[in-house]
Amino acid sequence: MVAHVKTPLAVEAAGVTYTYQEGTRALEDVDFAVQSGEFVAMLASNGSGKTTLIKVLIGLLKPEKGTVKINGADLKRLSRNELCRQVGLVLQNPVDQLFGATVEEDVAYGPRNLGLDESEVQRRVTEALELVAAGDLRGRAIHHLSFGEQKRVSMAGILAMQPSILILDEPTAGLDPAGEAMMMRLLNYLNRRFRITVILATHSVDLLPLFADRIYVLRRGRVLKEGPADAIFCDHEMIDEACLRLPYIADLLHKMKQYDGVPINGLPLTIGEARMRLLELIPENLIGKHHEGPDS
Ligand SMILES: Nc1ncnc2c1ncn2[C@@H]1O[C@H](COP(=O)(O)OP(=O)(O)OP(=O)(O)O)[C@@H](O)[C@H]1O
Ligand SMILES: [Mg+2]
Repeated sequence: MVAHVKTPLAVEAAGVTYTYQEGTRALEDVDFAVQSGEFVAMLASNGSGKTTLIKVLIGLLKPEKGTVKINGADLKRLSRNELCRQVGLVLQNPVDQLFGATVEEDVAYGPRNLGLDESEVQRRVTEALELVAAGDLRGRAIHHLSFGEQKRVSMAGILAMQPSILILDEPTAGLDPAGEAMMMRLLNYLNRRFRITVILATHSVDLLPLFADRIYVLRRGRVLKEGPADAIFCDHEMIDEACLRLPYIADLLHKMKQYDGVPINGLPLTIGEARMRLLELIPENLIGKHHEGPDS
């Protein structure tokens, strides 16, 4: 009989409480667990504790209670180098993590610190810049880049370290709609293609149903609910309590159902799902040829 080998959780926080020096309790008894290869979102309104939890997960803040494990190892026992090899942190403001004078220097900084030989450093820089569609920025001065470009370059710097876990604080904040879609597609690609564990903090609900395997909703430093997108957004009371809203498409169909009596099945969260549910209600002889479409 083959023994069942259990893979450790990529990230596990248990019973974490954190209070800032001046007295704000930012996290209260938080349990947060992510399996290797999962795509998980922390969804919460401003000031709910997302950034604090991220800082606790990567050891920048020490919780007064509770434990954090990364790939099964207690965070307290991991050296900064070991942690950096496993976890890539993408801060909300890219300027906080850009060090080089040029894009190339900046992206090469991490791999050089790992002591890799120069050909491997250059290979990683090329690959990381290609992933974020920033190959053409390679020779540019960092301080001449736009916010969106800086964001992509800071992301490339993290990807060049080839982390197995990626933690991102509001990765789409400040990006235009195309930049936002590109960022989410890239995270989805990294997750599906390379099985990189993705953990992101956000308060924007619209894109999550397309990408997140699971969502943790936080409010005032506590976990209100955890589960897949459909379980989260079906819980209207909890969404109100968390000061969040439904994704626009779900809100529209929920209102059509509630106020207009349109008999829509379930609660579609994406345009693709909504299209299918609405098509079900239209007599076949009134619909043209049924085309397959993207689920977006
Ligand atoms: N350095 C600090 N000192 C004192 N209190 C802080 C500090 N940083 C955050 N807080 C407080 O801790 C709570 C959680 O803040 P946090 O930044 O973790 O929230 P957040 O969910 O990331 O919010 P946002 O969506 O605005 O980024 C807030 O009440 C905030 O005022
Ligand atoms: Mg924050």
